[in-house]
Amino acid sequence: MKIILLGPPGAGKGTQAKSISNNYSIPHISTGDIFRKNISERTPLGIEAKKYIDRGHLVPDELTIDIVKDRLIEKDCDNGFLLDGYPRTVNQAEALEIMLKERGEKLDTALLIKVPKEFIIDRMTGRRVCTTCGASYHIKYNPTKIAGKCDICGNFVIQRDDDTEETVVERLDIYDAQTQPLIEYYTNKNLLSEVDGTQAINDVFKNICGILGAINSDNN
Ligand code: AP5
Ligand code: MG
Ligand code: ZN
Repeated sequence: MKIILLGPPGAGKGTQAKSISNNYSIPHISTGDIFRKNISERTPLGIEAKKYIDRGHLVPDELTIDIVKDRLIEKDCDNGFLLDGYPRTVNQAEALEIMLKERGEKLDTALLIKVPKEFIIDRMTGRRVCTTCGASYHIKYNPTKIAGKCDICGNFVIQRDDDTEETVVERLDIYDAQTQPLIEYYTNKNLLSEVDGTQAINDVFKNICGILGAINSDNN
């Protein structure tokens, strides 16, 4: 399947992406994770991206689109992919459509995880992420089994630099201004599906499986 995940920062895109990717055997591609890896390796891309990410701003389209282009041509994307955090602007969505058209492919769905703002600050400030595999935890809602260590790979979990309350507020404003228009964009293309992201993590996943199962059988 070819899926994109939409939703505000903290909606649970990364959390659900791990399970969807396992269930459908498709790669989980998070532009945020790609930027963070480049930042930790101090690559030229990482140094440039950090200037924007630390302020809660979007990395410019011309950098972001090329990263996704390069990633989607890798072999593991032949049977589909799950994009998490891309597209985030109408420009990026149009670029994705062109990339897929050139391969004779199209998206199966743009899945919006809906979570109202009042949930977000609490989710973000309590989030802990694995420095190695990118898994996301929450000190209250999804704690690691051993304090400070990732359940999957055993490496350290840390707080992200951009998970301060001030930056989260900025990221929410940017989401409203630049990413929210994608809801209308994909509605007009009959590709939008929605899940209530305020439920417990496992319940959100069950609903997602129901939605994706129905789309998959319609498209086959
Ligand atoms: P990115 O890493 O994509 O951040 P984001 O979109 O702000 O989303 P988050 O990762 O913060 O949230 P999430 O929805 O994945 O939530 P999670 O599952 O972790 O991007 C970071 C930055 O990179 C951007 O600000 C931008 O600068 C740049 N960037 C990235 N892509 C870009 C692009 N395409 N264009 C330009 N710039 C780009 O969950 C959050 C917390 O809630 C966790 O603690 C989790 O355990 C908990 N949680 C999850 N689900 C539930 C639940 N159902 N109940 C209770 N708690 C839950
Ligand atoms: Mg994420
Ligand atoms: Zn890990």
